[in-house]
Amino acid sequence: MSRSPRIVLLPGDGIGPEIVAAARRVLEALGEFEFEERLMGGCSIDAHGVALTDEVLEDCRGADAVLLGAVGGPKWDTTDPDAPRPEQGLLGLRKGMGLYANLRPVRPSPALVGASPLREERIAGTDLLVVRELTGGIYFGDSGRAGDSAHDTCEYSVGEIERIARAGFAAAQRRAGGDGRRPRVTSVDKANVLETSRLWREVVGRVSEEYPEVELDHLLVDNAAMQLVSRPADFDVIVTENLFGDILSDESAMLTGSLGMLPSASLGEAGAPGLFEPVHGSAPDIAGRGVANPLATFLSAAMLLRHGLGRAPEAERIEAAVDAVLGQGLRTPDLVSGTVAQAPTPADPTPEREVGTGEMTDAVLAAL
Ligand code: IPM
Ligand code: MG
Repeated sequence: MSRSPRIVLLPGDGIGPEIVAAARRVLEALGEFEFEERLMGGCSIDAHGVALTDEVLEDCRGADAVLLGAVGGPKWDTTDPDAPRPEQGLLGLRKGMGLYANLRPVRPSPALVGASPLREERIAGTDLLVVRELTGGIYFGDSGRAGDSAHDTCEYSVGEIERIARAGFAAAQRRAGGDGRRPRVTSVDKANVLETSRLWREVVGRVSEEYPEVELDHLLVDNAAMQLVSRPADFDVIVTENLFGDILSDESAMLTGSLGMLPSASLGEAGAPGLFEPVHGSAPDIAGRGVANPLATFLSAAMLLRHGLGRAPEAERIEAAVDAVLGQGLRTPDLVSGTVAQAPTPADPTPEREVGTGEMTDAVLAAL
């Protein structure tokens, strides 16, 4: 008999522990898993003086998948270059686990299109994927302070660009549905200014020859930021470097008006464990109050099942259950549009109803 998959849970800080506990209940309802809970982030700084210990990194490398809540909070905010920071744990995991490809799908839930800051006709049909390079660029280049100046270096090698470009083209191929639209990769850079971006553009163009059925276009990052707001539905897969991807993925997430809904997957070489986490942060202001939105973590657990464990049917069950509870009108406070607590009417048979983390989780479990 094959053993149960081993999942390391890193609840982290703020609302992390609440939403990861809720996601654990959802996973437990779907099958047998072996869970191990470990400290990472601010909680690890408090316990061990560092955001990520070698033991926890080893546990994660040896797991079948890792589910993360969120890290950070005002308690650990500092500009002291020598003080430990929760984010170092996340960066250490990405580098230490070789997670070079970060996948952030952005698709507004049908029940939530009204929550977008964009007009409904503009957001309609948006279904895009940001593929962000995650272990290179300015995040990991040489940095430091000398006298009254500081520097951060951006560096990319051909190999680093090739592998993330392939991840992007492969994702575009997988996403191509039966709608007859040709899959498209939009590569985002700043080739009019940066040497790393000129190399990026050259290499992505070369790799695209391996994927003749995928269309490729290039956008400068400032223009991409603008186009994302003006014509979001035209994007399919966006491939970009670490820093640009950080910025554009938050912008893309906000297009839907429900940052609390978006999952992400960070993947390395085939067969290596991936890391799955909601895109939103640790929301320390609402931590411990039982009102955190667990849905992005459930959807991250779905990505874990699909990309991490090859169990797509169970991933789809979670995704369908999330759509179902939203369709029933259930909303955590962050999703409420201001029309709560109406009685059902023929025109609106499922009015919004505000619920906390526990009730939302129970509803998803019931809908599974
Ligand atoms: C993200 C976050 C991280 C990043 C921070 C917490 C280091 O913003 O995952 O997008 O910049 O990559
Ligand atoms: Mg970010």
